[in-house]
Amino acid sequence: MADILPPNLLQERPRTPAGLLSNAEKDRLIERGFLGLYRWYTARSQETRNWNADRSFDWRHLRKDLPPEVVTVMQGFFAVEQYAPDFTSQLVHLVRRSHGRSHFQLRWGSEEEKHADAWENAVLFSEQRSPEWIAEYKERLRSQTWELPFPDAIHNLVYTVFQERATQLNYLNMMKIAQGKSEKPHLAGVSDPVLAKVAQTIAVDEAAHYNFFLEGVRMYLYYYPERTLDAIKNVIGQFSMPAASLVPDWQEFSETVYRAGIYGPRDFQRDVMQVAFRNLGIESRKALEEGIRKTREVPDFEGQNARTTAIFDTFDYGQIEGDVRRLHVKIQDYEQEIGFDKLDPTEFIENPEVPRQGGQAADD
Ligand SMILES: [Fe+2]
Ligand SMILES: [Fe+2]
Repeated sequence: MADILPPNLLQERPRTPAGLLSNAEKDRLIERGFLGLYRWYTARSQETRNWNADRSFDWRHLRKDLPPEVVTVMQGFFAVEQYAPDFTSQLVHLVRRSHGRSHFQLRWGSEEEKHADAWENAVLFSEQRSPEWIAEYKERLRSQTWELPFPDAIHNLVYTVFQERATQLNYLNMMKIAQGKSEKPHLAGVSDPVLAKVAQTIAVDEAAHYNFFLEGVRMYLYYYPERTLDAIKNVIGQFSMPAASLVPDWQEFSETVYRAGIYGPRDFQRDVMQVAFRNLGIESRKALEEGIRKTREVPDFEGQNARTTAIFDTFDYGQIEGDVRRLHVKIQDYEQEIGFDKLDPTEFIENPEVPRQGGQAADD
């Protein structure tokens, strides 16, 4: 902040109360967490998910008689994923000052790019779209640019948590269809092992993405609860899938996806929002909104304690502290394996604002 405040205001900056972490220290801890997590993630990604969009699938044996609805869905998946260069460049730029986050976004982008190529292969090998049609479609898509859904890093981080989980769910449900497990009469008995493998492989990547961003949001929630809860509330208030406004036949795609039992508003409520909330120690959307409202009702001048209590009542901070601790243990194990621990270890530092056992805030 100091570098954007005019010099005459520098003296008026609120000081950090004794015993609490300054924002600079919180930022440093979050940055270290991201760097450690990024290193762990990259090693794991290369060891366990190093697949290739061309060679990892038996494309010649993809069925040529897939129901047209399935091809429409694959085409929509391709349309969204092929904005990978836009997603990546915009997000990298947003977090370029953070080593862990910007390098992660490059790695993430390289995985999203494989998803685009795999879905394009699926559309092509279905033989229900000509190569010329695909080329033209791609040109139409690429004539538009995807923009960030939110202007700042914390909102975009929260957005990606919900978006990655929603994407994973879409692919898992596509996998079920390809395994012949659809409950919808028009898709019953569709069985395509190649398509099932494609959907499953990509869904595993999306789960890994979800976990990375989730760990990031947990760190923010732990060190900056008020700001993070606010971002969560704003994001779920206006959530839509990425590129929904850019894909020309979006309406047809989303209706087909809904009718196929792949994804719809109820799935978002139950299998995206509720799952993410559970992983973030938030009981429900109602509890979140209530908590934020109560926090705002506490006037600043009444002192920090009442306000802090109201924030920490909004979510299960004990759960989040446990999660952030576990993340650090995972990072420390990795650092020991490599030898970073001897030179530059990542350490977990408790947030003293978090109420301790017996309901007393540490600064009471
Ligand atoms: Fe993806
Ligand atoms: Fe993803």
